[in-house]
Amino acid sequence: MAEWMVSAAMRNQTLKPWRSAEESLLGGMALALLAVACIWLVLGPAPAVAGYLIAVVLLVALLLASLIMMHLAGSTRRQMEAALEGRARAEQRAIEALHESEAQRKEVFEHNPVMYFMVDADGTVLSVNTFGAAQLGYLVSELRGQSVLKVFFEEDRDLVRKSFDVCLTDIGQTHSWEIRKVRKDGSALWVRENAKAVRRLDDRSIVLIACEDITERKEAENALRQSGNYLAEAQRLSHTGSFGWRVATGEIIWSEETFRIFGYDKAPSVTLDMVVQRIHPDDRAHAQQTIDQASGDGRDFDHEYRLLMPDGSVKYVHATAHAVTDASGGVEFVGAVTDVTARKRAEEKLHEAQAELAHVTRVTALGELAASIAHEVNQPLAAVVANAAASLRWLDRETPNLKEARSALEAIVNDGNRAGEVIQHVRALVNKTADRKVPLNVNDVVNEVITLLHHELFSRGMSLRMELAPALGLVLGDRIQLQQVILNLVINGIDAMQPVTERPRGLVIRTLQEEVHHMLVTVSDCGVGFAAENADRLFDPFFTTKSGGMGMGLSICRSIVESHGGRLSASSNVGPGATFQFSLPMHQEDNTP
Ligand SMILES: Nc1ncnc2c1ncn2[C@@H]1O[C@H](COP(=O)(O)OP(=O)(O)OP(=O)(O)O)[C@@H](O)[C@H]1O
Ligand SMILES: [Mg+2]
Repeated sequence: MAEWMVSAAMRNQTLKPWRSAEESLLGGMALALLAVACIWLVLGPAPAVAGYLIAVVLLVALLLASLIMMHLAGSTRRQMEAALEGRARAEQRAIEALHESEAQRKEVFEHNPVMYFMVDADGTVLSVNTFGAAQLGYLVSELRGQSVLKVFFEEDRDLVRKSFDVCLTDIGQTHSWEIRKVRKDGSALWVRENAKAVRRLDDRSIVLIACEDITERKEAENALRQSGNYLAEAQRLSHTGSFGWRVATGEIIWSEETFRIFGYDKAPSVTLDMVVQRIHPDDRAHAQQTIDQASGDGRDFDHEYRLLMPDGSVKYVHATAHAVTDASGGVEFVGAVTDVTARKRAEEKLHEAQAELAHVTRVTALGELAASIAHEVNQPLAAVVANAAASLRWLDRETPNLKEARSALEAIVNDGNRAGEVIQHVRALVNKTADRKVPLNVNDVVNEVITLLHHELFSRGMSLRMELAPALGLVLGDRIQLQQVILNLVINGIDAMQPVTERPRGLVIRTLQEEVHHMLVTVSDCGVGFAAENADRLFDPFFTTKSGGMGMGLSICRSIVESHGGRLSASSNVGPGATFQFSLPMHQEDNTP
């Protein structure tokens, strides 16, 4: 408004001389007319024609010239007035536009959802927009003139000071940082600050800061980082790493735990070669085959292999992967790899403990059979002595009967072998043996055990019937372990029949082919049997009804049978006593017709 008034005043001033010129001309014309009138009055009604005419002509000319001048001056004035009017209107419009843009700038500054701060070199807030102040819970007046540090947490203030110093030493350059601001109510607000120091006309520096609220993004980032941390922690605790494998590009991604399991430093890229190189040489071919097959047919895979670490230690890992199709239609595997070394070692230890226990129970059982075994050895030895004496007698004759002596000596050899076999079986059972599965005939195994038990049964007045299937196929088994199973079952049968006095006590051992792929061994007694409620517990470790029993016999039998791929079960007989039976899978090669 003020500018408009000023410009109107200026315009009036500019036009003034033009007006007075016109007025002067008009005045001139009036004077000319007045002069004509005077001349006419002075010269009288009949003046000398020449002077009179000249004066009249001059006056008329002067009048005409004044009129033309007045017309020209008038039109120029009007043109100038129009031009000035136009300029004034343009100026007016420019001023109005300036006002509008100033109002808009102010609007933007005040209400743009960005916090603007203008801070002097000492850190005092010179200006802040309404939005900025409101975001922090303040009025503009509460911040203006205050230290900018007021809106930062104590522990972050050093960072603010340093960031400001950087801006002030690097005038004109924009610097950015992320930091927390503190609201009036004490709550935090994450912002990204873009700041630049500029020099004012009075040579003082000020820092202009624009802050954008990034709290949501920070919270999302924190949540993501936290869930990432949880996942990494869970992977570390479960010794399970994850991996991704894009078959077409060969790109492999590992989690931190996978790097740890494979013993590599974290690296941006992993190659299949790195994986294969770590696999134990003995397992490499098989693992490579699984990997090749999976990449070829794009199916899920699952395998276990060992890793040979640079320090020579061995790790057992179990890898499982699920095939998915990626956006471009290629196969991608997403999987997990678990370090199962501890489990494997525990299994090995358990296995060792079981073998140790099995050995102890075998030796214990043999100890119980000591008398019988001694008898089994003694019998052939007595026969050897008798036959040796006989052969001496045949030889001492006047005409030595060589035929009889030879047959007595042959009997000695047979008895010697028999005694030797018994001792061999006892030694085998006493020895600690490693798992060694070979194709064997279970009938032979039964006979070998019975060699040691004949006398035991006989001395207790118990009978033994063997019904061994004549053409029994072979099974893949550990001879000593299977002998132990039969030994335990027979000793249990003998124990169960011991209290029986009112009926004949007999044990029946049968072997039979069950279907094509399995054979069955049954041991039936006519002893005291077991109570139905104990049926489920018979195979539990340490379950015993005997005063001197350990309760480990059946438990060991079951684990041996199951490690052979078979099953051991117990049932009560229709008549008195119980039957224990176990099945074993036939050796594959024997199944081929
Ligand atoms: N033939 C059987 N008839 C009746 N009960 C049986 C028979 N065999 C086993 N049992 C029952 O099962 C229990 C467990 O047998 P198991 O052979 O595991 O241990 P145990 O014979 O008691 O002791 P040990 O560890 O010395 O063998 C026995 O105590 C007995 O009660
Ligand atoms: Mg037993």
